[in-house]
Amino acid sequence: MAAGMARTALVTGSSGLIGSEAVTFLDERGWIVHGVDNNMRREFFGEHGDTTWNLERLLHSTRRFTHHGLDVRDRDGMMRLFQEHRPDLIFHCAAQPSHDLAAARPFDDFEVNALATLNLLEAARRHAPDSPFVFMSTNKVYGDAPNELELIELATRWDYADPRYRNGIDETMRIDATMHSVFGASKVAADVLVQEYGRYFGLPTVSFRGGCLTGPHHSGAELHGFLSYVARAIREGRTYRIFGYKGKQVRDNIHSYDVCTAMMSFYESPRAGAVYNLGGGRENSVSVLEAIARLEELFGRNLETQYVEDARRGDHICYISDLSRLRSDYPDWDVTISLDEILDQLVRVGAPAPRRRVGAGAPSD
Ligand SMILES: NC(=O)c1ccc[n+]([C@@H]2O[C@H](COP(=O)([O-])OP(=O)(O)OC[C@H]3O[C@@H](n4cnc5c(N)ncnc54)[C@H](O)[C@@H]3O)[C@@H](O)[C@H]2O)c1
Repeated sequence: MAAGMARTALVTGSSGLIGSEAVTFLDERGWIVHGVDNNMRREFFGEHGDTTWNLERLLHSTRRFTHHGLDVRDRDGMMRLFQEHRPDLIFHCAAQPSHDLAAARPFDDFEVNALATLNLLEAARRHAPDSPFVFMSTNKVYGDAPNELELIELATRWDYADPRYRNGIDETMRIDATMHSVFGASKVAADVLVQEYGRYFGLPTVSFRGGCLTGPHHSGAELHGFLSYVARAIREGRTYRIFGYKGKQVRDNIHSYDVCTAMMSFYESPRAGAVYNLGGGRENSVSVLEAIARLEELFGRNLETQYVEDARRGDHICYISDLSRLRSDYPDWDVTISLDEILDQLVRVGAPAPRRRVGAGAPSD
């Protein structure tokens, strides 16, 4: 692209897992990228959550990235940023992402997750109403409703008893009358606001309801970042605590790169008020026990675990994202990074491996 024609993107949470991958992704494609991140992850999770290393990596590796150490809760600051740069694209990835923390700090959680999303939507409506607005929502908007599905217990994992759910949970799963945790409730507020700015105001908005999003640039902490934290625990000889469900709870994992290609697909062909589930699907699903076994094998080292009888409140027992709607609306998009590759990358943090397609070595269920 000619230099004068470069488009401008605004990425919030740009030092986090998804935001940082998005900065690199867009920078490599010639975009001017403005990132907003105040390193609040450190305040939330302590030193393991510190994202400074990731910001420094971005500043060294990108060409047209500008960092703004702003707080997304700063309404006037967000308005000014939009007014000044009039972004062609918004990836909103800043968040307080943990259930447990939300219970301890409900105001911070709501203000970061819900109120700040409204700040950004309103700034977009005033200064960039035609620019696709992509919000990273979560499967926790379904609360624990997915736990009402009948399950069968296999040797190392739970699975859906009803074959209709073979592909997982789709977007028709209800989002009310279910226990979300305070975190899930603040994300519901944001998810619905994002939809409303599409439906009511006609903005091109989307809520992507993420499964487990992962990758080597996660500042994994016990309270958030499942695979990344198991890998850290093995590497550093820490004890890993398994919370309930016999460790057979299932998550589907998607690499942050495949999240970026989904977000970009929406940019290229936006709709108003769209909602998609976005995870790794069945092929990239794994239980806690299976993940531990596979990472132990890759590290060649055992993990010390401690079993805690009580499951986390509102935790999903078996969650696999049904990707049918996304694949149908965006047929060129698909998951391209297998679970094996994700695990390999987590073991070799700092040296991302070449990408290969899902299929070879995908986990058996
Ligand atoms: N990682 C997952 O498994 C997962 C799953 C489902 C949904 N999501 C959602 O995807 C999005 C991105 O998640 P992630 O894993 O990259 O999270 P992350 O914690 O790695 O990144 C979020 C970033 O936002 C920043 N931030 C927090 N509060 C801020 C504030 N007030 N102002 C400015 N910056 C602030 C943090 O410092 C952090 O760098 C979030 O909305 C999250 O809820 C994540």
